[in-house]
Amino acid sequence: MSAEIVYLNGEFLPAEKASVSVLERGFIFGDGVYEVIPVYGGRLFRLDEHLKRLTDSLSSVQIKNPLSISQWRDVIIELVARNGGGDLSIYLQVTRGVATRDHAFPVNVPSTLFLMANPLKAMSDEVHKKGVAAVTAEDIRWKYCHIKSISLLGHVMLRQQALDQNASEAILIRDGHITEGAASNVFIVKNGELITPPKSDFLLPGITRDLVLEIAATHHIPFKEANFTPQVLSGADEVWLTSSTKEILPVTLLNGFPVGCGKPDILWQRMIALYQEYKQNIRKNLSH
Ligand code: PDD
Repeated sequence: MSAEIVYLNGEFLPAEKASVSVLERGFIFGDGVYEVIPVYGGRLFRLDEHLKRLTDSLSSVQIKNPLSISQWRDVIIELVARNGGGDLSIYLQVTRGVATRDHAFPVNVPSTLFLMANPLKAMSDEVHKKGVAAVTAEDIRWKYCHIKSISLLGHVMLRQQALDQNASEAILIRDGHITEGAASNVFIVKNGELITPPKSDFLLPGITRDLVLEIAATHHIPFKEANFTPQVLSGADEVWLTSSTKEILPVTLLNGFPVGCGKPDILWQRMIALYQEYKQNIRKNLSH
């Protein structure tokens, strides 16, 4: 088991001692929201941005935020310390609480708050050298993909669909356009320009996505937020996937065909180097 000390409703305790009622609405309905926050060298990565997205998710599903921003910060910092610091990913979820099963929101029921820490692995040399495979799939999910909901059945099925085809990720198509990956955002490079779909209800506003755009702006790398079709994706020079746990993955095989030159290419090399530099500054506490 990777999680050691977890946080549940105000208490820090060993994972095996933490338990919730079977009537918890997260268990019964998938009724809740979550965040995944990277930690590098014991330091929290883009915490404010993650907590802002959490606040947005909570208000979209009408769950009262159980903690203030400074309380969240304190709990997360303590969880990191109790798990020995280093490189971690903090998983946190807020679910609607324990009540007799009824679809309607329960009245005056406290939400359930759960956090755990998992080791965050660096990208393997193999992926760095060769990239990963992806497949495209129809986006079968609901229409509120901007909410970081714990109801992830669509995502789980799509990801498995990719794994069953020996690929790492499913890149999703809705109404003839690319939205995002099953657990990542999507970028393409065409003629030196970086392109990612604009934010909408059909994709999660990724924290890594925003940072990649911010780095592009700082370093004068041309970019735009624009929708593109599966045909444009197939003809891209480079395809990347971004997420808090995978950082920036180069896709070198798409639906069984090579992407561009078939290897992690020049703009990805540049971006991943800039991203690593940004992380180094977090470790040294020079940025957040
Ligand atoms: N998922 N889109 C989806 C559907 C995701 O699940 C994720 C991340 C992203 C990338 O968002 P960010 O850069 O903020 O991590 C985009 C997390 C890591 C997960 O579910 O484990």
